[in-house]
Amino acid sequence: MSFRPLAGIHLRTKAYVLGDKLLDTKFQNSVIGAIIEKRSTPDTRTGKRYLPHQNTVNFAFYNTTNSAEICSLFVDMYVYSAEAGSLSTEFSKEFLFSVAEAFIKKRSPLSKRFKVCDYYVRPAREGQSGLVIYIAVKSIYRLYFHPLSKIPGPKLAAITSGYEFYFNVIKGGMFIWEMERLHEIYGPIIRITPLEVHIKDSSYYEEIYAPSKRRREKSAELVARFDLKDSGFSSISPEDHRKRRSHVEKHFSRQAVSNIEYLIYENIEKLDNHFKRALEFHKVISLDAGFAGLASDVIHKYVYGFNSGNLDHDDFNKSVRDGINGLFKSTHVLFFFPVLQTIMNSLPLWLLKKLDPFVYALVSQKLDLLRRTEEFLQNKSPKSETRSVMEVMCGPSMPEDMRGAVRLHNEGFAMIIGGTETTARSLVIAAFYLLKNESIKTKLREELRTVMPTTESQPTWRQLEQLPYLSAIVWEALRLSTGIANRSARVAPNEALVYKNHTIPAGTPVSESNYFVLTDPEVFPDPHTFDPDRWLRAAAKGEHLDRYLVNFSKGSRICVGMNLAYAELFLVLASFIRRFDMGLFETSEKDIAFARDFGTPYPDEGNGRVRVIVTKVIED
Ligand code: HEM
Repeated sequence: MSFRPLAGIHLRTKAYVLGDKLLDTKFQNSVIGAIIEKRSTPDTRTGKRYLPHQNTVNFAFYNTTNSAEICSLFVDMYVYSAEAGSLSTEFSKEFLFSVAEAFIKKRSPLSKRFKVCDYYVRPAREGQSGLVIYIAVKSIYRLYFHPLSKIPGPKLAAITSGYEFYFNVIKGGMFIWEMERLHEIYGPIIRITPLEVHIKDSSYYEEIYAPSKRRREKSAELVARFDLKDSGFSSISPEDHRKRRSHVEKHFSRQAVSNIEYLIYENIEKLDNHFKRALEFHKVISLDAGFAGLASDVIHKYVYGFNSGNLDHDDFNKSVRDGINGLFKSTHVLFFFPVLQTIMNSLPLWLLKKLDPFVYALVSQKLDLLRRTEEFLQNKSPKSETRSVMEVMCGPSMPEDMRGAVRLHNEGFAMIIGGTETTARSLVIAAFYLLKNESIKTKLREELRTVMPTTESQPTWRQLEQLPYLSAIVWEALRLSTGIANRSARVAPNEALVYKNHTIPAGTPVSESNYFVLTDPEVFPDPHTFDPDRWLRAAAKGEHLDRYLVNFSKGSRICVGMNLAYAELFLVLASFIRRFDMGLFETSEKDIAFARDFGTPYPDEGNGRVRVIVTKVIED
């Protein structure tokens, strides 16, 4: 076998792989957005945007050899010029060809004499037969030449992300169960999409979700769906992330959260009034809506300084969750078609209301918060006694280049999304199991009496944390609530990760689903049983189960709102159990079970509902 034909196939394959990007509208949208925003300067007279001068492009390209981002930008510029001639009017086609060639040559020593020409656009231009050849060559490349080709997994998943599309979009949030099945067949490491590796091994979690001394990035494609551009949450590089997070995290330190315990208690009192009225009028209460209302009111007040008033409604303003549920339920569709975000944001509200009430709720909520952010920036908001997080973030301490209204609004909205459903679900899970297990509830109530001598007592979070049984209940509820169901890959750009006898090349998105760690029977025997005592038994043996409590993730991107979540869990559960007796009403395990992954866990139908009847207000 001669070397030349092999090299030819290899180069053609590479050309087609680049051509793949031409057909990938998701990639185009994100990169074109980035090109327009980052690389173009608006003409001060006309307001039009132009691409930078050719020399600037040349300079940037040759001086950022390792930057995947800039290479992608150039490849895309090339694609656009070759295909449509749009956007790139200042570049000659020859120049863009040469950029793409240089890109290929840098990547592959075999391509020294390679000319790009029209391989790139061939599939689109040659119609069906070209497309068939293109798909065939691309599939062969992904199966046999791709750096991940040695990672086990089904061939179809290695060839196309249509595999994930089928399970998550068509079947509705079911890819997590398919991954579970694949792990049973192929072992703890699998290639779940053409570009991503998934690991199911609790002891490896901290390798992927590593602390900041080991560089970890997020995957741009995975965060795009949330439309939280330039927020800490959506930052790709650790530098951007650190810069942005530093302005958020000081508001969620232990001390900062301890300072707002009064705010949590204010809302607990409101929730308790609902319980008392329900007893008086024999009304059934939806605990899920009540807890979501509480979490939402707390985070809105703290971050934006206004009362979102969910707990002031008789039914807890059930629609408060519509926006967030709208976002979660469309998470998979938005992942595959991020352009829908742009469409969604540009349609008039009246039309959205007709098309999809959930999306309408989401967009209106975002518009309202954007308006409030703009008012803070213009210093127009009425002054509150205590300054809200956004008021501080929009103040002079925020550097000029980070003061964009949309960026700050995205930062605020990340806190609102992060701070509502996740915490509410943990509370719901805890309440469900406590109401189902009389003996656990009674034991907890006895423990609570030590720091809550009367039902009106308001112990601090710090006091409650000293109670071993309550702590165990909080951890067990967190464990069974899962938190975030969706995998959130990390990329180690400069480090090949080694898992057993597999080397995962640097730059590969690698993920480990929290759910698999939280229900690992090796770590948590009988994992689906609510057993708070497991934490006490482990502590007595000197075992540190908390290492595997990965609800909040680990490492540099660990949840910034973790302290607030813990404070809410401790305070709300303590008052709930110390002050009331309740019974579950037409609610069973299947109403809260994790059956579908839409970002957070959802049951097979609906949004996860726990209904109760209040039977007694405790008086002693
Ligand atoms: C039980 C409750 C909660 C759970 C289980 C949870 C879980 C998580 C997880 C797993 C992440 C990492 C996401 C990723 O890797 O992509 C995260 C990040 C985040 N969470 Fe939470 N969260 C909770 C409560 C909160 C609260 C109360 C807030 C309010 C501020 C919040 C705000 C955020 C933000 C802003 C991020 C992004 C942090 C960053 O990348 O720097 N979360 N959360």
